[in-house]
Amino acid sequence: MIPGLTLATYDDGDRNALSDAMQVMTRAFDPLFGEAWTLGQLGGVMLMPGTWLTVARIDAAILGFALVRSVLDECELLLLAVDPLWRGRGIGRQLLDHSLAVARRRGITSMNLEVRASNGAVKLYEDAGFEYVHRRPGYYRGNDGQLHDALSFRLDMLL
Ligand SMILES: CC(C)(COP(=O)(O)OP(=O)(O)OC[C@H]1O[C@@H](n2cnc3c(N)ncnc32)[C@H](O)[C@@H]1OP(=O)(O)O)[C@@H](O)C(=O)NCCC(=O)NCCS
Repeated sequence: MIPGLTLATYDDGDRNALSDAMQVMTRAFDPLFGEAWTLGQLGGVMLMPGTWLTVARIDAAILGFALVRSVLDECELLLLAVDPLWRGRGIGRQLLDHSLAVARRRGITSMNLEVRASNGAVKLYEDAGFEYVHRRPGYYRGNDGQLHDALSFRLDMLL
């Protein structure tokens, strides 16, 4: 546990929360893969019912965020990001666990996600109990035009 770390969840387009997440967005995602979202994309998804954003911070310092969208009893982890200076200290896992706890409180029974096959985050998801579902060859196109496979994972939260 990191002293002073707090996680807060937002269900609406709270402008401060969106800009907090964008601070990490621009630093966390490697531009090579073109996976970072714009503020417009993030704000647009946050307007959809059943979407929530969790922000990790210590005082005013924003360390990471997770974005989840739910429909009925299923949800999808859309984004998970931690500031590069704060990685490897369990914040990503805490954001994931917190997102799962919020989902459980809302009566959601499964979480799905898609991740680039070459992303080290695959280990994080497997360690958290997610099960491999399938591979989509060449699903993502990087900013250099190169194609990357996507892996789908699912966690049955009733098990
Ligand atoms: C994925 C990410 C959120 C993990 O954040 P983090 O705070 O470093 O994660 P944790 O410290 O909780 O790590 C949990 C485990 O996953 C592994 N892991 C996570 N990301 C990894 C990466 N990029 N490369 C290698 N291993 C990684 C760690 O080895 C760790 O396992 P360990 O403690 O047994 O060694 C962070 O690397 C990130 O922001 N990456 C860029 C954005 C991204 O690709 N997000 C995922 C797809 S949306």
